[in-house]
Amino acid sequence: MEERIISTKMASEDEMVEYSLRPRYLSEYIGQKRAKENLKVYIEAAKMRGEALDHVLLYGPPGLGKTTLSHIIANELGVNIRTTSGPAIERPGDLAAILTNLQPYDLLFIDEIHRLNRSVEEVLYPAMEDYALDIVIGKGPSARSLRLDLPPFTLVGATTRAGSLSSPLRDRFGVVSRLEYYTVDELTLIVQRAADILQVGINEEGAREIASRARGTPRVANRLLRRVRDFVQVEGDGFISGEAARDALDRIQVDKLGLDHVDHRLLKSIIEKFRGGPVGLETLAATIGEETNTVEDVYEPYLMQIGFLERTPRGRMVTLRCCEHFGVEWPK
Ligand code: ADE
Repeated sequence: MEERIISTKMASEDEMVEYSLRPRYLSEYIGQKRAKENLKVYIEAAKMRGEALDHVLLYGPPGLGKTTLSHIIANELGVNIRTTSGPAIERPGDLAAILTNLQPYDLLFIDEIHRLNRSVEEVLYPAMEDYALDIVIGKGPSARSLRLDLPPFTLVGATTRAGSLSSPLRDRFGVVSRLEYYTVDELTLIVQRAADILQVGINEEGAREIASRARGTPRVANRLLRRVRDFVQVEGDGFISGEAARDALDRIQVDKLGLDHVDHRLLKSIIEKFRGGPVGLETLAATIGEETNTVEDVYEPYLMQIGFLERTPRGRMVTLRCCEHFGVEWPK
């Protein structure tokens, strides 16, 4: 069945290109070996039994392919996908409308599912567990509860913070899959595949240079590829060699480890203004002019992964390794 995507969001040019680069089937999807192999079994089993796939929770840092995987799951199952997000569903009635419009076996994708409010979440429990919708009619002593049947469906929830999910919600997912940062080898393949789709020439060294500065994240790799392509097409010969990639990436201020100017500002402000830390998240975010959520969900996970930053009960601290990278003395 042709995939049907229902979304009202306007897409930017970059988002449209990003979308065209997304793999559509598991066989095209590079990396996340464990998650991919397990999903393949669960999808096959659900198809064999003619049942809806059990509800799936995908979690991990942004840009690792949670949305992409949910579309792939729908394609592999041969069902429609309906996409929405936690903050977009404001009232229980909004979710009830979405659920009653699902076709049997459809996939409902809820991004940022940790941001659903409690009253909406409560509509989701019977829907997930019994494919049922409990509606309260009337108010006060004469109020009655009515149960409506829903078609069988699969909920795929995505979150950057599995820890912020309430436990009743988390417990209702039959499949919980954590996405990991990609290796440089995997990202090299992803860059080569994307360059092929974008019809820009690239060699292994060029692809590896972009991959090694992409902070383990395909979305970043593809974005860097598009920017490097701009440079080689305007100022070069249109081909991405290792040297061309290095020059372009240096110009857009992405360093050897993939750290950009915000990462630099964050780490340097801990070193210079707070003597290496500890410093509280709120103070740190205010100092560099970013939202606390952005610092916590977007910047910190990778900095911790590469061992540059530690979260301690008293606040954020830089490590010896981080100071070495910047060529400054460790304040401890
Ligand atoms: N593009 C973005 N993520 C990808 C992945 N995991 N595999 C192949 N292409 C991708």
